Amino acid sequence: MKRTAIGFLGCGNIGCGVYRLLETHGETMAQNEGVAFDIRRILVRSPGKKRSWDIPAHLLTDRAEDVLDDPQIEIVMEFMGGEEPAASYMIEALRRGKTVVTANKMALAAHWEEIVRAAREHGAGLYYEASVCGAIPIIRALNESLQANRITSMMGIINGTTNYILTRMREEGAAYSDVLADAQRLGLAEPDPTADVEGYDAAYKLSILATLAFHRHVPVESVYREGITKITPQDVQYGREFGLTLKLLAVAREVDGRVEARVHPAFVPDSHPLAGVGGAFNAVYLNGHACGEMMFYGRGAGDMPTASALVSDMIKAAKAKRHMLPAVGDARCEMAEDWACVHFVRMQAKDEPGVLAQVAGLFARHGVSIASVAQKAGGDRPGAVQMIFLTHGGSEQAVRRALCELNHDIASVCSMIRVEGV
Ligand code: HSE
Repeated sequence: MKRTAIGFLGCGNIGCGVYRLLETHGETMAQNEGVAFDIRRILVRSPGKKRSWDIPAHLLTDRAEDVLDDPQIEIVMEFMGGEEPAASYMIEALRRGKTVVTANKMALAAHWEEIVRAAREHGAGLYYEASVCGAIPIIRALNESLQANRITSMMGIINGTTNYILTRMREEGAAYSDVLADAQRLGLAEPDPTADVEGYDAAYKLSILATLAFHRHVPVESVYREGITKITPQDVQYGREFGLTLKLLAVAREVDGRVEARVHPAFVPDSHPLAGVGGAFNAVYLNGHACGEMMFYGRGAGDMPTASALVSDMIKAAKAKRHMLPAVGDARCEMAEDWACVHFVRMQAKDEPGVLAQVAGLFARHGVSIASVAQKAGGDRPGAVQMIFLTHGGSEQAVRRALCELNHDIASVCSMIRVEGV
């Protein structure tokens, strides 16, 4: 039986999840896989702190060197979270030839080039299945199961917190702030929810997924990002009347050699497989030129789903004769400055003759084709109504230019939401 010495960097909920999985399932895994693990040291901020799983005190240390400098440790498990010092510790471990297994999308996306270079130059293993969509094996699918494909597009619900919020807004007609407060009470949203609700968490994950899908680096700074904080129950409800479900979508597509990578609220038709992905679940729906369409679905967060991916990476690393690094070239992707999609535009407008004609004329001048329009009572001002336009698929920049020229004496934009998967 091969025994592999491992060290942990961090031991919060996810670290405790890994410890627990090894303790409760390690023997079965050893029988099935022929590998066993010895935990040598665990870096924590406060060794005396109470944890969700009992861990022997002699394993705990508050000195990173006890893990990084230990020559017997072959695999460093990183679950500190945050960008630093996690990124520096991972690079240090790789430079010492140790394999790194990480759940840290932020550190990985923000320092992708340095981390991959350190692994390559030192022949070290780098495993990061848990960094995107928790237990869902999407990284392995892209790296090892779909290489025969040119991935043409990918759409994902890759943040569970926002999916929980939007699902409840749809089911209950509830306001964003009320559902967020509930999610915080239930531990499904952080006390500071910015990373989730403003789309940063999803942008880190999309940077990693798009880089692997298109084999060139898609830096996180190149990912267009919009969060869900301005979504109103009206948008959700009107979308519903059009047969649409609202999600925080991560979209990546390669068109004519340019890549678009974006995270923003988007409607999908109720009949689309992503529309049924409710609550805190994640899913990635992709298209490959050979495999066609595929969807991966499961739990994207939580201690045990994340531990499932981390321990699976550990087993793979321990059994590897040669570590595989991402098949990603040195060049960065050329990013698209515009993209085509259907747009849902909600306006508050004066209910007077000629208003609809003026707005329609403005769209026409910018080459935006209207697919349908609805007028609803209930503007905020007397004599105002809500107008909802659905465009045909077309340039986002054209829609933006048209809306910039809107005469505010007759109408103002309340929301502009993309529609994908039509
Ligand atoms: N808050 C994240 C989510 C956790 O909801 O998906 C995993 O990144």
